[in-house]
Amino acid sequence: MIKKVAIDELKPGMEIVRLSSDVWEHLPNLYTVPGVIRSDAQIARIRNEGFRHAFIEVRVPGEPPLEKRLDQLLKETGESPPVRERVPFEEEIEVAQEAYEKVMTQAHRVIHDAKLGRKVDYAASVEAVDEIVASAVRNPNTLLCLSKLSRFDDYTYSHCINVSAIAVVFGEYLGLSHHDLNQLGVAGLMHDLGKTAVPERIINKRARLNDNEFAEIKRHPEYGFEILKKQETVPDEILLAVRDHHEKFNGSGYPGHRTREGTSPLARIISLADVYDALTSDRSYKDAILPNKALAIMYGMRGQDFDPLEVQNFIKCLGIFPSGSLVKLSSGFYGVVYESNPAQPLLPKIKIILDQDLHPIPSELVDLAARHAMGGEDLEILECADPASYRINLKPYLTRRR
Ligand SMILES: [Fe+2]
Repeated sequence: MIKKVAIDELKPGMEIVRLSSDVWEHLPNLYTVPGVIRSDAQIARIRNEGFRHAFIEVRVPGEPPLEKRLDQLLKETGESPPVRERVPFEEEIEVAQEAYEKVMTQAHRVIHDAKLGRKVDYAASVEAVDEIVASAVRNPNTLLCLSKLSRFDDYTYSHCINVSAIAVVFGEYLGLSHHDLNQLGVAGLMHDLGKTAVPERIINKRARLNDNEFAEIKRHPEYGFEILKKQETVPDEILLAVRDHHEKFNGSGYPGHRTREGTSPLARIISLADVYDALTSDRSYKDAILPNKALAIMYGMRGQDFDPLEVQNFIKCLGIFPSGSLVKLSSGFYGVVYESNPAQPLLPKIKIILDQDLHPIPSELVDLAARHAMGGEDLEILECADPASYRINLKPYLTRRR
């Protein structure tokens, strides 16, 4: 189990969880150096350096593995929304990819214009996001796969598109209208636009920020709000979502210290998508965490950063093995999850692509739930595997038909 604790609650012997370096914006003052705490002196040092929180791994003897725990958690959340009619993954993936690339072009334009102090093209953003929304309605798994598997050189752009796509997928799961989904997608695309007003040397600094630098970066939600407000055509719902995307459930966020009640629903959805993408991506790829571990960490943030029910629904929407995850099977082979199964989250649809020695094999599509229903219970997912550590680019396996 992963738990978020205050530094004052740390004790020698506790194990700090490794986290992506991109989460600092969401969790300022978070101590992230992995390993076991050795002494009280070390805790005092961490406190004196200004850290306030850490994630710790709590190992309970006999505790089932992460996947089984998440499955148990999802059973406790009650009914899922009704399963909707979807277009088959293989039919949708190419269309989704086009939509994704179109939004990528738009993201470049918007950020470029904002940097130059020009008007950003709101109407073109609405149009580009509309295709993302349409794709999410046809088959949300395609977008989740693309958000995990697309490798773009620049984190800034891929992050804003991923946040837009993941937020839209979650909004669709919650049953938002097409109009709301579009606003959500545009707000996701523009959520960090205010960073264009923060000096680049602060944005790109890899070392820990000092207090002044951090105070400056904390202004980016308000800068984004101001940039978009000047456009006059951007609806209030989007302005508020951009302004409040770093607010937290318990009021400990920024810039307004608004609690859940004072934060717009779109901002809360963007915040979940934003943290999930930051946890599972990393500029250098080395610190990205596996999707299901990221979900467990986010569950550990319930009641502090996130509304407990909303984060549970988010996990339910993405599934225990989110689409795009590389998984190790009981046969020793590896597959990519291409469609989650909300009714049986441990049994998604997978494409088996690698043998036990990680050599590519002719791919095979397997619906684990259907296979289990026919008595083929011998094949199951053992765990999520890390494509980065195996140096595998998964995207071609999913975007080609066979
Ligand atoms: Fe942000």
